[in-house]
Amino acid sequence: MKTIYWHVTEDDEQQIEAIREAAQLLIEGHTVAFPTETVYGLGADATNEHAVRKIFQAKGRPQDNPLIAHVATKKQLVDIVDNYKPYVDKLIDVFSPGPITYILPSNDTCAINVTAGLDTVGVRIPDHPVALQLLQEANVPVAAPSANLSGKPSPTTAKHVWDDLNGKIAGIVDGGLTGVGVESTVVDCTQDIPVILRPGGISQEELEQVVGPVNVDPALKDKQSKPKAPGMKYKHYTPEVPLLLIDGPIEKLNEIVAQAQQEGHRVAVLIKNDDIDKIQVDQYYPLGTSLQDIAKHLYDALRSFKREDTDIIICQTVPETGIGQAIMNRLKKAAHKIISP
Ligand code: TXA
Ligand code: MG
Repeated sequence: MKTIYWHVTEDDEQQIEAIREAAQLLIEGHTVAFPTETVYGLGADATNEHAVRKIFQAKGRPQDNPLIAHVATKKQLVDIVDNYKPYVDKLIDVFSPGPITYILPSNDTCAINVTAGLDTVGVRIPDHPVALQLLQEANVPVAAPSANLSGKPSPTTAKHVWDDLNGKIAGIVDGGLTGVGVESTVVDCTQDIPVILRPGGISQEELEQVVGPVNVDPALKDKQSKPKAPGMKYKHYTPEVPLLLIDGPIEKLNEIVAQAQQEGHRVAVLIKNDDIDKIQVDQYYPLGTSLQDIAKHLYDALRSFKREDTDIIICQTVPETGIGQAIMNRLKKAAHKIISP
């Protein structure tokens, strides 16, 4: 299959035309990758079972893992769900459009392979001008997982999507680097108290400021429990080069780096900008300074080192506050080994 590539940067005629063409492909039952504020999504008409099947095929995604339906407005969200708890309106008013997905009772508008046969559906309104225009133009709910091959780090640039899916999907809308960098927070809103099933762009603290106490799926802490988001049980975000995660100070990282170098390994370090002067390596990726910067650059960092040049990526843990919860969730899943004090 030839994958069409549209480059959209400005709000001009060309951009409008590209988005129209992409929307047309979606309506005709094809798959199109597009930018959101979190990561790139691989979209298909969520009401069309046949179209949705193409997403699973292109990604090599397990069938039992449900997809998030993306919509442009609250009205379109309400149209695909059944009655929900009153706190959901508060969450929508404050956080949507934004990096949050609500798990709500489904009214079966979405195809059975979107929900993987569950009686709930994940819905989100992405906060990205290109995504919103595309959804408005297509005027159907668009099922979209992250636009990577299953198991790999999510894509934050159109190039990442191209590397994984060129020839397997109908089109890619290139809207540049995404903003948040980690996926949306998945919140189960079917209980009296909301439950975070996957930490993401909106933190637990932010949610609690709006609706009071929020629970966290026990499976996020304890490996014995079964996660309520089917996708959370799979190995994810695995970089091409093995990742070693260090829970300790920069001195500890340096010690491990030196040891690996002595053993003849070609080492790359993912490092905060303030610490660049403190390490001695040929290859490093500057992650920025804040937790927001780290979230934004993490997946590109994990994808940027190749087996030809690098044997091991080494990275320090981050504090699990705010978006740090999501970063650590992804780092732990991506890591081949974790060294604790
Ligand atoms: O930021 C994001 O959420 C990105 C962009 C493209 O929107 N999408 C994304 O989709 O990360 P995906 O498919 O990679 O992850 C969706 C997660 C999976 O862990 C899935 O199991 C869970 O949400 N999920 C979806 N529907 C669900 C449902 N009805 N009940 C429980 N978990 C659900
Ligand atoms: Mg994904």
